[in-house]
Amino acid sequence: MASTSSPLPTVPDTDPSKCVLDAFRIAIAQRLSSTLGLPLEQVYSGVDYGKKGEDFTVATPRFRLKLKVDEIANKVTEGFQPDEWAESIVADKAFLHFKVNTNNMIRKILDQVHSLTHETPDKVPAYGSNDSGAGKKIIIEYSSPNIAKSFHVGHLRSTIIGAFLANVYKACGWEVISMNYLGDWGTQFGLIATGFEKYGSQEELEKNAIKHLFDIYVKVNKDAESDPNVKIEAAKWFKRMEDGDEEALKNWRVWREMSIKKYEGEYEGLNIHFDVYTGESKVGQKSMASALERLEEKGLITDSEGAKLVDLEKWKLGKAVVRKKDGTSIYLTRDIGGAQERYDEYKFDKMIYVVSSQQDQHMSQFLKVLELLELPWAKSVIHVNYGLVQGMSTRKGTVVFLDQIIREAGQVMHEQMQKNEEKYKAVENPEETSLEIGITGVKIQDMAAKRINNYTFNWDRMKSFEGDTGPYLQYAHVRLASIGRKNPHLIPLPPPSQINTDLLAEYPHAREIAFLLGSYPDVVKVALKTHEPSGVVTFAFRLSHAISGAWEEVIVKGEENLEKARAKMFLYECAKDVLASSMRLLSIRPLERM
Ligand code: ARG
Repeated sequence: MASTSSPLPTVPDTDPSKCVLDAFRIAIAQRLSSTLGLPLEQVYSGVDYGKKGEDFTVATPRFRLKLKVDEIANKVTEGFQPDEWAESIVADKAFLHFKVNTNNMIRKILDQVHSLTHETPDKVPAYGSNDSGAGKKIIIEYSSPNIAKSFHVGHLRSTIIGAFLANVYKACGWEVISMNYLGDWGTQFGLIATGFEKYGSQEELEKNAIKHLFDIYVKVNKDAESDPNVKIEAAKWFKRMEDGDEEALKNWRVWREMSIKKYEGEYEGLNIHFDVYTGESKVGQKSMASALERLEEKGLITDSEGAKLVDLEKWKLGKAVVRKKDGTSIYLTRDIGGAQERYDEYKFDKMIYVVSSQQDQHMSQFLKVLELLELPWAKSVIHVNYGLVQGMSTRKGTVVFLDQIIREAGQVMHEQMQKNEEKYKAVENPEETSLEIGITGVKIQDMAAKRINNYTFNWDRMKSFEGDTGPYLQYAHVRLASIGRKNPHLIPLPPPSQINTDLLAEYPHAREIAFLLGSYPDVVKVALKTHEPSGVVTFAFRLSHAISGAWEEVIVKGEENLEKARAKMFLYECAKDVLASSMRLLSIRPLERM
């Protein structure tokens, strides 16, 4: 086999030092470009992953050559000489299927996984990451629940998808600001303030602020049904708040702080963090007023009985109130002013709002207004939406609070694990472990399909260890973690240079696993482009399946050839690193034991 290697040419947007499969693709492209007389970059963009288990496939019609597909195929296959990059080629009409050099592929991928995971100075697993966002800043707003109202499953989806996006952008080198924009303003706070005088309890508030405020809100709403004065009082109170009356704001401030504290603890349980807690209350009058002024100058504002509307009929987006009769602001106005303030403060290169598709109309109006204001950054603001979740209720009834969902997930999982007595006894922290697996189950179910799809939540599916579920994924990771414990004589492994990875080439499953590991950096790139977690979920399951397929073939325990045992162990360690990275990208904490 020819192994004299001249350095590969460079191709834009590739980086073999982060994704070594780029090198294999470049080599294939180089081969075709010289045989067919085409520019390297053009060919490179046509080197795709094979669809039916081939490594790489090129569809030749895309090059628009004058030759027939058979002639092209003959030209390429005729003088084919295997080298360190490509082992063989098969032509199937318009498709050229390439198999990469097995030994070199396994060697290079495992080395890269190992060195980028364990030898990076900052110890952040860097395999899979890239620098495409270096020097750029993004604000990602997600979760954004309303204080004193229920935390519904839509908020949970925003939380889960938003956290994923924050992780993806970080992995691609962006500076990420995770932002939680609380619904902490509006007439409902006038209602709660009036209700608090009647139903408030300091003790309850300290125990669980979120729950207590919600309870008050429910009660005072009931009162309002029979007594119209309640609403009038509430509106007056809120007007005082908007006018900055300290007396009216005092309690509200405390409620807000306490609610944030409680939320922070719950998000921590979900392995999710925010850099900034802001909210509708933080949007200043000035930015809203100046936006309205500019809209007025552009002739987009109409008056309706003292209220102001922005007319978006021309864009089929209807008319939207931007200022109420009594001069108070509303949701849309606050979003407009808030965006301007965020730009002024952060000078972001991009801003994402992770908000349910139920608010598509609102978001389109909001983004249209930014555009009409001719803000130069308007095009950098993106709405990432998602569909509805049906059927998420606990056994006690409808879900109102985030901690109910988390608790239920833990309990359902705990009961499931107790069914296997023997295994259950061997678990060190059964409650903690089941909670973690339960949360994984909820997240996986949420991210398994395209964002925009609605889905029906199913506790039975969530807790199952069979099929593509959260528990199955955790189990795959735990099993990898256990090989080292079961084969202590192999641990720690010698440095990779002393491990003979060629010994893995005889195992088709080892080859499959290595190649999948090699594709992980591409999985991250695609996630950045599509804003879809489902691709990462699919990857994690493909890898888990490949690993479970390998257990019977690539056996470590009892392997008498020490060199071979080490090579196998090395493969599994790399697989564990990458599986863990993909799980962390999905905000899941990989377990070492269960
Ligand atoms: N608090 C809102 C709600 O629960 C979601 C906020 C979405 N973000 C935004 N900037 N509008 O419906």
